[in-house]
Amino acid sequence: MSGIEIVEGDITRLAVDAIVNAAKESLLGGGGVDGAIHRAAGPELLAECRTLGGCPTGEARITKGYRLNARHVIHTVGPVWRGGGAGEPRLLANCYRNSLALAVVHGLRSIAFPAISTGIYGYPKEPATEIAVREARMIAMPERIVFCCFDAETADLYREITARSGSRS
Ligand code: AR6
Repeated sequence: MSGIEIVEGDITRLAVDAIVNAAKESLLGGGGVDGAIHRAAGPELLAECRTLGGCPTGEARITKGYRLNARHVIHTVGPVWRGGGAGEPRLLANCYRNSLALAVVHGLRSIAFPAISTGIYGYPKEPATEIAVREARMIAMPERIVFCCFDAETADLYREITARSGSRS
């Protein structure tokens, strides 16, 4: 089973096989963690993203990491929060599932996730974290799954939810 780690900080600094980007469907960059990843990776990342033709909500696409410490970026598109009745939980779970599946297919051993959809897309943090932890625990690979929390409050929430749902980290 995968080892789950919770770290606080900037995902663009992590030396893992892949960092996950909370992207938009066009895959052409934006604000939040998406903007930070594109700035840190350099313009070659946007050039590769342009060749992909976008990504529907819940799916994932892989690119190289260019100037990042991470070898790859897995771009996934989280749902915009519309109150919870528009399939948001299923779509958010799909983001984690499809990103993890891509990592496995590419033989990656470590992957780091931001808190997908919980910024600009407005998904409430607690249910989003429950989904992230549940999906990470359903898979045996990759070996290392890192949840990269941008602030202490988010890291505390991840710690609380991993502890509450039975510790494996
Ligand atoms: N490292 C780790 N986490 C971060 C970083 C960082 N450098 N920067 C922000 N976060 P968001 P979304 C956290 O808004 O809600 C973009 O414009 C942040 O605190 O980046 O999925 C895309 O192009 C929050 O907890 O992503 C889309 O249009 C989490 O990352 C849209 O935003 C996600 O916040 C996607 O919105």
